[in-house]
Amino acid sequence: MKTQWYKEAIVYQIYPFSFKDSNNDGWGDIEGIISKLDYLKELGVTAIWFSPLYQSPDYDYGYDISDYKQIDEKFGSMKDFDRLLAECHKRDLKVIMDMVINHTSIEHKWFKEALKSKDSPYRDYYIIREGRRAKGKLLPPSNWTSSFTGSAWERIGNTDEFYLHLFCKEQADLNWENPKVREEIIDILNFWLKKGVDGFRFDVFNLFSKIYPIRDDNDKHTYQKGAQFFVDGPRMHEFLKEINEKALSLYDSYTVGESYRPSKEAALAYVKQENHELDSIFNFAHMEADNIGGLKFFWKPFDLLQFKRGFFEPQEDYYQNGWNTLVLENHDNPRSVSRFGIDTKHYRYEAATMLATVMFMGFGIPFIYMGQEIGMVNCRFERIDDLKDPVSHFVYDLMRSYGMPGKLAFSFIRYGARDHARIPTAWDDSTNGGFNEGAEPWQKGDLAYRDINVAKDRSSERSIFRYYQKLLGIKKKNAIAIYGKTREYDHENRKVIAYSREYEGKRLFIVGNFSKRSVRYVLPEDARNMTVLLNNYPEVKQEGDSLLLKAYQSLVFEE
Ligand code: GLC
Repeated sequence: MKTQWYKEAIVYQIYPFSFKDSNNDGWGDIEGIISKLDYLKELGVTAIWFSPLYQSPDYDYGYDISDYKQIDEKFGSMKDFDRLLAECHKRDLKVIMDMVINHTSIEHKWFKEALKSKDSPYRDYYIIREGRRAKGKLLPPSNWTSSFTGSAWERIGNTDEFYLHLFCKEQADLNWENPKVREEIIDILNFWLKKGVDGFRFDVFNLFSKIYPIRDDNDKHTYQKGAQFFVDGPRMHEFLKEINEKALSLYDSYTVGESYRPSKEAALAYVKQENHELDSIFNFAHMEADNIGGLKFFWKPFDLLQFKRGFFEPQEDYYQNGWNTLVLENHDNPRSVSRFGIDTKHYRYEAATMLATVMFMGFGIPFIYMGQEIGMVNCRFERIDDLKDPVSHFVYDLMRSYGMPGKLAFSFIRYGARDHARIPTAWDDSTNGGFNEGAEPWQKGDLAYRDINVAKDRSSERSIFRYYQKLLGIKKKNAIAIYGKTREYDHENRKVIAYSREYEGKRLFIVGNFSKRSVRYVLPEDARNMTVLLNNYPEVKQEGDSLLLKAYQSLVFEE
């Protein structure tokens, strides 16, 4: 049944809120997505991952689901979804659904039922505990904190009880220990698989299993209070195997897990083919190379060596064990050309194409985030109220509460905000970048769409879109680019990234300059007699055994 189609896939992520608004109500929608499928086909992707389309009160914009079997009204109806699925399949595009099953919305009927009475069978669907009394004060059951700041426990009305939420307080964590919960989830997965979807992206999956009984985290060095009790928990592998056996393996499906700081051992076990858990996970370690401790808002000078470690390690670990994924952007990160120390103003084309080359020629499935294929940049937000993401506000408020001046706090937020990726996709230079007919978009952008939009990019001489077409064309067809083993060269080089891929005795050699200055790069001996397969400049300068790489130049050589 399993064909492992995913190994040769190229995935495009759509954040439905902001892709294309067909009925001019300010929200992107399914009809809008359908109208752009031919565009995606032309780009050369083979699968689409849809950020949540389900019914949601949008406290965390779709990642708080109130009904897993309904499409949210603002996106369309189930009939529209069925048509979307058929239209994708007609074009040979696979469909990957986002599954947010660590938590549900507090507006989900399970949660509402759970709160109705202590005897409700739904009570045990969630993680509800008595608070603790200290000096007459009611304290949460433990000192765990939410990934989104503050306590991970929310008091239930005026009672002494609290429910656990590792994200917003409107996202209540499910109790995976309860077999009924797992049954419900398996039912939901099968509902979508039966409809014909081709796979899932599991949201923060490695938080499903917690350590009980619940206790305080007294570790001084923990990055998030409680993490040791809820990351890669003791029953993780068992839970994944159960879902795999009762749902995922019954279809020719693919699942990628979004992991939250997994340990190396756990990560490997999740993707090991013989374990029958997940097909792959996302690795984000390279995306922490321009911030402090993985905290997106806290900028630091870009560290290429850290980027390389994060990029190469999973390729090494998962090769011939499982499969890998390659990511530069998603709905939780700022735009790639606006970070990593890049001089976006002068070299947007060069940097966008270099980043794509060095990332996607690696071992693993390319994941492209909407707008990345034309080098969309960060938004010039001017004030905190321009931002819709609750996390931007939580962190801003936290900084302010420690006395940080508003301007400074906002500058941090602006560096790492998820909002940058959530402004409307720019299709042309008409009002709102052609996102719609002029209605105020749910998340306002700025006027960057006048210069950076799909129509303009595609008609310009140096089109990032066209470069992506070429690059993806290679990635899809070239067996070395898909199946080759990666070998890193010159790790200590702080400006240039270089590696080879080798498969059945044949090799590719990939090199990219991360600096805005020209750099001389001495080719390794075994990469000297190769021919250029792809170049983001019209020419390549070579002097003897050295390449003279221009600003953000990247090359792919073949034997
Ligand atoms: C994942 C999602 C993010 C969401 C969080 C909670 O990290 O990618 O957007 O806020 O989980 O569901």
